[in-house]
Order: sequence, then C-alpha cells, then structure tokens
Amino acid sequence: MRVGDRHFRSIWLEQDGWSVGAIDQRRLPHDFVTVRLATSDAAADAIRSMLVRGAPLIGATAAYGMALAMRADPSDAALDEVHHTLIGTRPTAINLRWALDEMRTLLRPLPPQQRTAAAYARATAIAEEDIAINQGIGRNGLELIEKIAATKKQGERINVLTHCNAGWLATVDWGTATAPVYLAHDRGHSIHVWVDETRPRNQGASLTAWELGHHGVPHTVIPDNTGGHLMQHGMVDLVIVGTDRVTADGDVCNKIGTYLKALAAYDNGVPFYVALPSPTIDFSVADGVREIPIEQRGAEEVTHMTGQTADGRIETVRIVPDGSPVANYGFDVTPARLVTGLITERGVLKPDRAALAAAFPERTAAA
Ligand code: MRU
Repeated sequence: MRVGDRHFRSIWLEQDGWSVGAIDQRRLPHDFVTVRLATSDAAADAIRSMLVRGAPLIGATAAYGMALAMRADPSDAALDEVHHTLIGTRPTAINLRWALDEMRTLLRPLPPQQRTAAAYARATAIAEEDIAINQGIGRNGLELIEKIAATKKQGERINVLTHCNAGWLATVDWGTATAPVYLAHDRGHSIHVWVDETRPRNQGASLTAWELGHHGVPHTVIPDNTGGHLMQHGMVDLVIVGTDRVTADGDVCNKIGTYLKALAAYDNGVPFYVALPSPTIDFSVADGVREIPIEQRGAEEVTHMTGQTADGRIETVRIVPDGSPVANYGFDVTPARLVTGLITERGVLKPDRAALAAAFPERTAAA
C-alpha cells in the first residue's frame, strides 16, 4: 500500500535476491524504518520482538526465515532446528505453524542441494497467496459494506469499528479487516473507521491509524472502552476485526479486548464480522477458550508507555505505581455464537464447522 508516493509491502525479497526486507513496526508511527533480515535468527528475533507482527505477516516471515536457514545449511538437522526455533517465537497466531509446516513438508523429501531454491520459491508463493487471499476478503467484505451503503441517505457515512491492526502491516499487503475498507473507500463510498487504540501495544493508535491516514481513509482513534457507547448511540454500522486463529467450530481468537467488542455488538444488534484468511483456520482445535494458547507478555508493556515528545524525542514513561503487579494477556477468544460472519476469500461464512469444512475441505484433510 502507499507510504507517501511509494508502494510498500510489509515484507519483500531484497535486490540481492536472498535477504529479506521488512518494516520495523516498533518504530511506527514516529519513524518509518526498514530493516534487512539476513539470517533465520534475525527472522526469529523480528517475530519475537514484534518488529513484525500480525498473524499472516508472522507466517510469511517464518517462511522466509526457513529459506534463510536453508541457504546457510540445507541439512535435515538444520531444517528441524529452524522449524523448532521459529515455532517457539510466538504461541497464539496459527499462521506461524501453518507456514512452517507447509515449508517443512515441501522441503523434507528434497535432496539438500535443491532445498534453498525450493524454500525461497515457496516463501515467495506464501507471500503472494496472502495478497490474493486479502483481495478476495476485500471483495467479499465490500459486498457487505455496499449493502449497508444502500440503506444510507446521500452523504451519510458508513461507520466501521475495528480493533488492533489487521491492516496491510499485519499481512503482506491490503490487510484482512482493512481490505474491504480500502476497496470501499477507493470506490468512492463515504466510509469512516473507529480505531480502537488497543492497549497495551497500541496497534490501533500507532499502526491502523497510520495506515488509514496514508491511504486517505477518514478515521477516529478511540480509547478501547468507547465502542459500547458508540454502539448504543447508533454510531457503528458494523465491526470488522482480524484474527490470529479460528477453530473448527468458528470460535475466534484475536487481540485482547475483541471479546468485549463482540459482546457490546451482540447487545446492540451491530453486525460483528471477522476477516479470516484460510491459513488462520485451525481445524485441529474446536473449543477456542479451552484449547488456544494465549500469549502472556511482559509487564513493561502495561506499566510503561512510549511516545514522542514535542521536540521529536521518543520517550518511555512509567504509568503504574512501582510494585503494583500487572497481567498482560495478549489475546482473547470470542465464541462463535457472538460472530455474525467470517469474511473469507471464498465468501462470507457462518461461524460453524459445517460452513468452514464445506468452504475449505482441503484444510480439514490436513488437520
Ligand atoms: O500481537 P499482534 O500485534 O501480532 O496481534 C495482531 C492481531 O491480533 C491482529 O488483529 C491479528 O493478527 C489479525 S492480523 C490480519
């Protein structure tokens, strides 16, 4: 997507044909800095430190990380070791395991001398597939938005609420939750996005707002607890969020706070949609609340906040009293009963086992 007058993806192969470029998302919205990843350890660190983040981008980075490892050493032992290292970087987004298993299944039967080229080809294909998937989600989500647009008076805006960042920065391009928004905006619909700030990492305030601003999409950043009030006053037409893992029964794991938005949407009759690329479905689990591992992150994300001073310095300050314990759960699970529909690349599905299995039969066989 656009950054100034240039087009960027969130991850790319550098001109040298083997190292991997990425945007250091920890520095947004203050600085736009790109980095070059030249080893699988650097790719693992990038995922672990959230230099890159968002389920589909984590998967693509891991795939390229495996290609970097094969370039250094294409042996069986190195293949197993890099799979083990990368899978341990973050626990919740299933795209990580999906991408690594895809790569290992392809590479394992090949003679070592063929593995590097095959790994780069598959990693690049995973990145390209992600873009095509998101464009499909965009087209299917646009139909929902256009149905709402048809009920609006001339000049009246369509209000979407989103949580966290499920934009192009979280994927390879277009985003999942944002793809329908970008398409609607580009088609001339008057669309406006309520952007949850998404404490503690502020992916909404720092990343979603930054992306939407660069694309010219009208938006308003709101504290995380504002959505219920807006819904009670008819100020939200639909919610669209991304996801890190959807179970076979349609439960949705996403950034902490998503569940509360779903409850508020349900109580107010506001449609609650989840933009779901198929690699994010985990057919091996059914009950999201009990079976999905929820990442617990460092206390400092809650006790401290980082921002830019008026004279341009980046500063981190403490906002919690010394000695107060904190809890920092990264994700929560929204039960399928609270989800209106799953916007996938193959259509808008009911959040249940029959609909998911019928739309993605090849994934059920692999589970
Ligand atoms: O902790 P993060 O920033 O990796 O969490 C990201 C999210 O929860 C996104 O909403 C989700 O991965 C969907 S991205 C298309």
